[in-house]
Amino acid sequence: MNNKITKVIFPVAGLGTRFLPATKAIPKEMLPIIDKPLIQYAVEEARGAGIEDFIFVVGDLNQALLEAHFGENKTLNATLADRQKTNELKRVNEASILAPNIHFCTQDQPLGLGHAVWCARDFIDAGESFAVILPDDLIQATPGCLSQMMKVWQDRGGNVVAVEDVPREMTNRYGILDVTEDDGRIATACGLVEKPDPAAAPSTLSIIGRYILDGRVFDHLDKQQTGAGGEIQLTDAISKTIEDVAFHGLRFDGLRFDCGSMAGFVEANVAFALAQKDQESDVRARLKRHL
Ligand code: UTP
Repeated sequence: MNNKITKVIFPVAGLGTRFLPATKAIPKEMLPIIDKPLIQYAVEEARGAGIEDFIFVVGDLNQALLEAHFGENKTLNATLADRQKTNELKRVNEASILAPNIHFCTQDQPLGLGHAVWCARDFIDAGESFAVILPDDLIQATPGCLSQMMKVWQDRGGNVVAVEDVPREMTNRYGILDVTEDDGRIATACGLVEKPDPAAAPSTLSIIGRYILDGRVFDHLDKQQTGAGGEIQLTDAISKTIEDVAFHGLRFDGLRFDCGSMAGFVEANVAFALAQKDQESDVRARLKRHL
């Protein structure tokens, strides 16, 4: 087994309907949490985990914006340098240094997360394992969530996903594990169910937007079978590999914010503002007016 993962797929071709009209012209991954777009946090996390190739699965809006964000803006750099805005210049350049090897592929229609990952199949070599990050699941953690997952993968191989316990009434929003062993940190599963009704859910342990996947998942994604909601689901394809590929869920150390939902997006902004020393007291005082 190769003991290094060097590629990450960012599926960002969804419609982001919960944030319309904001996401009509600005893709969801470009929405900022304080001063950085969601996608930059995701790329930073991947970089911190040793990722070298960053593959974006895009719709029709995203590519130009992502290239602009992660590329170099010579005019802006020159202006900032002229005005001796050294700190700003450094911050702007952080994004371009982060992801030197970026690649794009297109998902013509948002047919589901499984389909989006399948669209990136040509970037993954036969037998290669790879990471998938959903940037709207923002995770505040040190070390980063993907780094924590890499350690589990290096020990155990197979598929590794990040998991969280959710209230039973919310199982119908997530991929849920059918758990065989659980030591409180790492759970082993013998099956996965996408969006089960609470009464039928095999557990309350849900997959969140971080995956390390064995390349055999493409054998099943190739079949393009639809599942819950009429979409091609990634969890369905993973669950079909489970007899041949070990499956582990990691309860990572850190806080996850569901930035695809309004409340999660607001919470993430508050949490990241409070984490900035120069903003904390001002933000805290202003929040008091509302709480
Ligand atoms: P979501 O399930 O949050 O869907 O996708 P969405 O379209 O982004 O948002 P809503 O639910 O309509 O508000 C999770 C991630 O999977 C990507 C999305 O871009 C997001 O990063 N995705 C989803 C795709 O790339 N293609 C798809 O067909 C579906």
